[in-house]
Amino acid sequence: MAIAIRIARAATGRDMVAFCGYRGWHDWYLSANLGATTALDGHLLPGLDTKGVPRGLAGLMHPFHFNKLDEIEAIVAEHGKRLAAIVMEPVRSTEPEPAFIKGIRALADRCSAALIFDEVTSGFRINSGGAHLAYGVDPDIAVFAKAIANVFPMAAIVGRAPVMDAAQETFFSSTRARRPGRCACHFAQASRAERRQAFDADRHHIQKGWTEASQATGLPLAHQGNRQTDPDWPDWDCANTRRRLVDL
Ligand SMILES: Cc1ncc(COP(=O)(O)O)c(C=O)c1O
Repeated sequence: MAIAIRIARAATGRDMVAFCGYRGWHDWYLSANLGATTALDGHLLPGLDTKGVPRGLAGLMHPFHFNKLDEIEAIVAEHGKRLAAIVMEPVRSTEPEPAFIKGIRALADRCSAALIFDEVTSGFRINSGGAHLAYGVDPDIAVFAKAIANVFPMAAIVGRAPVMDAAQETFFSSTRARRPGRCACHFAQASRAERRQAFDADRHHIQKGWTEASQATGLPLAHQGNRQTDPDWPDWDCANTRRRLVDL
């Protein structure tokens, strides 16, 4: 994610970032809690401390909440000219409302900020690529990691040429950069993933196993996940299930 932010800043010559959700531990992200110490609360991990994060980064990060278009609209209205990037996951446990995800794309275009989709967790999970493909909205940069190399450590930062070209004018690397073995793992994984049915089969198999275990034991079960691509998704009564879990 840090590389994607670096590229967006290099491409735009701007420094501010609007973001939604958890994006990792790096300075760019944690700096949101400088000054407004609760800015990251409500974005997965509350109470994150900023010791060790340079104070000079204060004021660059602007949080908004998932499916709250009015929040990001307000940020763009106030800081649009300084926004290098708008960063979010296309989906996590909640489906994006079409007006939200399409509206974000339009807002990024309007203020010429890079739209970055964090596909670290969502990528290659519901389909053989970015989850954003299911919503018909393309980012300028997409970041993939967890599922792309069959648990081998690998990340891919991909995007449109006009933004990605800025990578030539800045620098990043890592101990594990350029390891062809991991790419081989990815291609082996991806060729399997391309058989779309594999995803459905795996998902249904796992759902079925959990459901049977729940029925056999009488233990309540709550599901979260993507419904859009899954017409057979059971209509779980999550609120009731949670209540029963508390009763247990
Ligand atoms: C959705 C998401 N984005 C970003 C990150 C951070 O990844 P990294 O620590 O490789 O920067 C994580 C890590 O768990 C994540 O789940």
